Amino acid sequence: MYQLVSVLLALSATQHVAGAATPGRGSRANPADWPAAIAKAQSLVDQMSAEEQNNITYGFTVKNGCSGNSGSALRHQFPGLCLTDGPAGIKSDLVTGFAGGVSVAASFNEDLAYERGLYMGMEFKAKGSHVANGPVVGPLGRLALDGRAWEGFGSDPYLAGRLAASNIQGMQQSVITAVKHFIGNEQETQRNPVGFTAATSANIDDVTMHELYLWPFQDAVHAGTGAVMSSYNRLNGTYASANDKAQNKLLKGELAFPGFIVSDWGGQHAGVESATGGLDMAMPDSTGKWANNILADAVKSGELAKERLADMAKRILSAWYHIISDDFPSGGSGLPSDLTAKHTLVNARNQSSKPSTRQSALEGHVLVKNTNNALPLAQPKILSLFGYDATVPKVDYPSNSILSFYGYGLQSYDVTVAQVIPFLLGLPTNQTPPQIASLGNLIGAGGSGATFSSIWIDPWTAIQRQAEEDDTALYWDFSGNSPASIAQNSDACLVFINAFATETVDRAGLYDKKSDDLVQGVAKRCPNTIVVMHNAWIRLVDVWIANPNVTAVIYAHLPGQYSGLALTDILYGRVSPSGRLPYTVAKKSTDYDPQTTFAEGTNIDYRWFQHNGLTPRYAFGYGLTYSTFAYSGLKTQWAQASPALTPPNPQTVIPGGIASLFAEVARVTATVANTGHVEAAEVPQLYVRFPDEAGSAVTHLRGFKKPVIKPGGSAQVEFSLTRRDLSRWNVATQRWELKKGTYEIFVGKDSFDKGALKGTLTLHNKTTFRLCRPGDEAALRVPHLAVVALGRLGKGAPEAGRVGGEVEQVVDVGGGAQVGGDGRGQVGDVGSVGGAGGHGGEPGCGGGGDVLGFGTELLRWWPVVSTGYRAGKAALPLTTSGTRICAAATLRSVAAPAREWKCMFA
Ligand code: BGC
Repeated sequence: MYQLVSVLLALSATQHVAGAATPGRGSRANPADWPAAIAKAQSLVDQMSAEEQNNITYGFTVKNGCSGNSGSALRHQFPGLCLTDGPAGIKSDLVTGFAGGVSVAASFNEDLAYERGLYMGMEFKAKGSHVANGPVVGPLGRLALDGRAWEGFGSDPYLAGRLAASNIQGMQQSVITAVKHFIGNEQETQRNPVGFTAATSANIDDVTMHELYLWPFQDAVHAGTGAVMSSYNRLNGTYASANDKAQNKLLKGELAFPGFIVSDWGGQHAGVESATGGLDMAMPDSTGKWANNILADAVKSGELAKERLADMAKRILSAWYHIISDDFPSGGSGLPSDLTAKHTLVNARNQSSKPSTRQSALEGHVLVKNTNNALPLAQPKILSLFGYDATVPKVDYPSNSILSFYGYGLQSYDVTVAQVIPFLLGLPTNQTPPQIASLGNLIGAGGSGATFSSIWIDPWTAIQRQAEEDDTALYWDFSGNSPASIAQNSDACLVFINAFATETVDRAGLYDKKSDDLVQGVAKRCPNTIVVMHNAWIRLVDVWIANPNVTAVIYAHLPGQYSGLALTDILYGRVSPSGRLPYTVAKKSTDYDPQTTFAEGTNIDYRWFQHNGLTPRYAFGYGLTYSTFAYSGLKTQWAQASPALTPPNPQTVIPGGIASLFAEVARVTATVANTGHVEAAEVPQLYVRFPDEAGSAVTHLRGFKKPVIKPGGSAQVEFSLTRRDLSRWNVATQRWELKKGTYEIFVGKDSFDKGALKGTLTLHNKTTFRLCRPGDEAALRVPHLAVVALGRLGKGAPEAGRVGGEVEQVVDVGGGAQVGGDGRGQVGDVGSVGGAGGHGGEPGCGGGGDVLGFGTELLRWWPVVSTGYRAGKAALPLTTSGTRICAAATLRSVAAPAREWKCMFA
């Protein structure tokens, strides 16, 4: 996308650049082995002059098809890097048209995301691109109208983070990923400055930053991404590409990102300040900012610390050593700058990628309506087909023009060059971009993330093939108009519509009249109307969804080159659909967040709907299969009896942040049974409601699985919850913290599933700790529960406590429990009180915490402590003495989810 802008801007002269053959050097670093790569980079940087270091930090104009070429250091055998778009596969000839990000998101399939990355990475490598500009996790999809949300992996940070990590792990087997755009790039409107007006500023608070927008980048860093691309917008007033807080403090500091930050193309707005602000590489050039030794000179004048310049070079070289293999083709060698000119052909495709690429296309289809099993089709006698989206556009040809519709994925978009220029340049215009690509089928969308594809199997082609096998007669009208007559004898009428989106401009609406008229026109006459939408992002359907003649609806998203084949696999029931919506579909446009200020915090998409009591048409995570599933047997379990609230060993930091954030703290299992008649993949999803949000409807996705289950069969799904998954960001302490209280755990079919299995995970709940009142004993006489522990605390003077099990047993907890004044409890007499735990201080409670522990008597009483607790009745007849006595009773049940009652006696 940037090429157009860059040509208009006239670039600087070249020094030495990417394109030279990669010289031989040490063997390829193990992807898990950053330290070795960093050490090699450090040793190389130590030998480089400031000018050489400066030279590799910015881009040069080279006549090849790389989106950008960094400077080289040939004296040191560093050839410079070729960086190329985009997130749906490398943009060149003889390449695969992979499914778009939104389809990967809809697949909810980490394995497929990995494989797609693996094969995509191989194609970038075959073409000589060291860096792939992707994947995208920013925008995350805050706005329903966002022009680029489709490039990413859905509007939930957990989903996006998991899929991005898998994608990166696959891609980085071959090339460096530049996960983008960091950060807050949640709209296209004014993403860049317009005239004297600065770019839009994403004003994001600390919690929202950590829990929402930074989250998937954290996963990307943890997965080992070698590069991060900064975003065009400003963040809290400062351009993201020079933002010290975001780049130095968050990304490189807190997340310990060891690689380099590259600017978005033309997104560098400052010279030395962007270097001190954390940017390491400027693309596609840096005229007047870093070019021609400006940084080296700044080091000499003392304006820039020499360590910082060395660090920029070291980060670039570290990623190179870390990922790029010795056998790497020379930079840009398979990437002609002009696809129409005669050039050496380099076929990047890999035979073995085909099944996975087709599967990825297939699993991006989401079936949302299927009345009376309208689908799958069973050898129909007559099918009628309608809609502008059914066939390839009339023209799909590269051009050497900077305004190549092919280059920007605009082949099906009915706009003139004059209309497109303001959109591409982000210039003010009165024109509204068309909402649909009315000239043909969509397999990708527009801009730098457009799909380049060597083949394009549209729905029409694939249906023809199938009709030939089945002896089905086909009628069609692809003019895009509501047909005057419909074949009365049609078994079904398929209507193909789309919803387009492109970089540089936000969408004008969430549904369009032309497509809706078409659907309604067909449905008026055809009682079995099946709608297929190739939608780049959210598309509303309320104009016709309730029409009984609309019997089936598929969100087909952006499937890439195997579009038609994937669709017919589903239409004809060769494979059950298994995609899930990676965003929420509202009933009406106004249900979406109208905010432009990020005031909604973390409540975007389904959380916005939950928070505001809005019922979506189709919830995030929703999707049908051709079978039915029953969920049962939810079990929740902490990995340790009493996990510390803050991350243990905070000094042990790995890419992604404190290592213990990624360790499992709890595990949830459930059983999913296929109760229908066909094999199908189901997507059980785990949502968490945090303790301090009790009473609010907001939940957070924290797990998803995708077992393929045969009819009559079942699968046990196991969700591993990490410390970060169950933590919230505490602004005051600046750390992730588990929450005391009861976490509600839901395992179900989507974010609004009323039938979801429910369970809890409880951490000692300080917030419900209160003064006990006379009569509390009675209140605590809870049937079917058993007392676990009691401790009596005093100011440095431990005294005996006593627990009474009124019904079954009286247990002594001898020796008392001593709690230190630092808020971390210690059990005084381990012989009598086995196990321990301390949870913060309670005011007036000896400055210490409460005690959770199992008395030895209790252990005897409950022989199966590790697997569950026997039911019983208990009460707490406490004698009070001393100034204050704190009592902690943990009451647990085998049958009911764990709960706690605590009180403090005065
Ligand atoms: C886009 C980036 C892209 C770059 C290079 C920019 O306009 O925002 O995502 O990688 O161009 O084409």
